[in-house]
Amino acid sequence: MSSSTPRYDLWAQETRANPVPVYARMRQEAPLVRLVDPYYKIPVWVATRYKDAVELMRDSRFTKDVRKLPDSSPSKQMRSGSFDAISQHMLSADPPDHTRLRTLVSKAFTPRRVEELRSRVTAIAHRLLDAVQPSGSMDLLDAFAFPLPVTVIAEMLGVPQEDQEQFREWTNIVINPPTDGNMKPIEAAGMQFVQYFQGLMARRRSEPRDDLLSALLTAEEQGDRLSPIELISMLFLLLVAGHETTVNLIGNGVWALLQHPEQLERLRANPALIDSAVEEMLRYRGPVETTTQRWAPQDLEFRGQVIPAGETVVASLLAADHDPEQFAEPERFDITREPNRHIAFGFGIHFCLGAPLARLEGTIAINLLLKRMPRLRLAEDPARLRWRDGILVNGLQRLPVAF
Ligand code: HEM
Repeated sequence: MSSSTPRYDLWAQETRANPVPVYARMRQEAPLVRLVDPYYKIPVWVATRYKDAVELMRDSRFTKDVRKLPDSSPSKQMRSGSFDAISQHMLSADPPDHTRLRTLVSKAFTPRRVEELRSRVTAIAHRLLDAVQPSGSMDLLDAFAFPLPVTVIAEMLGVPQEDQEQFREWTNIVINPPTDGNMKPIEAAGMQFVQYFQGLMARRRSEPRDDLLSALLTAEEQGDRLSPIELISMLFLLLVAGHETTVNLIGNGVWALLQHPEQLERLRANPALIDSAVEEMLRYRGPVETTTQRWAPQDLEFRGQVIPAGETVVASLLAADHDPEQFAEPERFDITREPNRHIAFGFGIHFCLGAPLARLEGTIAINLLLKRMPRLRLAEDPARLRWRDGILVNGLQRLPVAF
């Protein structure tokens, strides 16, 4: 099969609208297959079976550190100065750097610490719904699902409210695939991000506050725990993770409920089902479709195939979470599914640090929405909804609803 085979066109807009059948064929016919990413024009190996996805994420022969790749690697050649300045974070690191970086912030994201944010998250969600309630309709993503997690993570880090719109623009540019392979806008956004944080850090240094940024500055000043580039990269990672993920948990989750009225009614009748409902939303259409990149630092054999040095491998979490070997009737959306060992938050040492926060935000947001908007319904033909480009983040571009 040629490397550019169109048999599995994961990037086509019709696939974006429903990737599940394409992944079903891949799991069957080619569970580890080399495709070419049409945006970055680089080969990418995609693993689609649940077992292989888990195995890949725990296989320490693969690296997350692009610096370890041979110079001939296309992924290494694509990196530029401004990108390097924001990518020395835990998700691009192997142990021991990974362990050091993750430990610095892990306390702020434990389930116990995150639970303390419950009343604040609820208050922000109420405020956002208050603002749209009189109008009777909204783009759910724009008015609710996006500003909620963004406000929460910005407050945790200590980013002033008035700068939050700016971040939205930068993170959007950086996370979305470049049109026509042009990396310039991405580099420019990365540079602006660095400059902004240098300014904010200078202010916090002279006037520390009770926020994560001030705590990280203290770690940096202590010398060997965190370099200046690692500090900016950490802020970048947390902000991007806070901007691009939970929004689609809420968006895809509400979309799934509106497509399955009987499940929606069950949840309305018994809001205590919200925890297992959110787990099913994560499984059924999780916001992170494929893992971030892992690379073979030298030729590596995986599942009977040789992955050449410098090439990219990802696991499709969405495909794995629909694997019939792992889930009974995977295409059925069942808010009481049990067991439900989905891997929407990844697996192994890079398991999502923000999972407790995302779960808290998702459960509060969806239950409050259903409670306050008993007539919630789609305001557009579901077939006309457009999904985002690229295979990293799975989410709608807009979700118009009426209530
Ligand atoms: C529903 C929402 C979310 C989903 C589905 C999600 C999913 C994921 C996944 C799949 C990974 C692993 C990627 C890989 O191994 O390649 C990951 C890592 C990570 N996530 Fe999340 N995430 C979500 C929300 C958040 C939030 C709100 C934060 C924090 C503000 C966050 C912070 C992180 C961090 C820091 C990592 C890197 C962990 C490491 O490398 O050790 N995530 N996330």
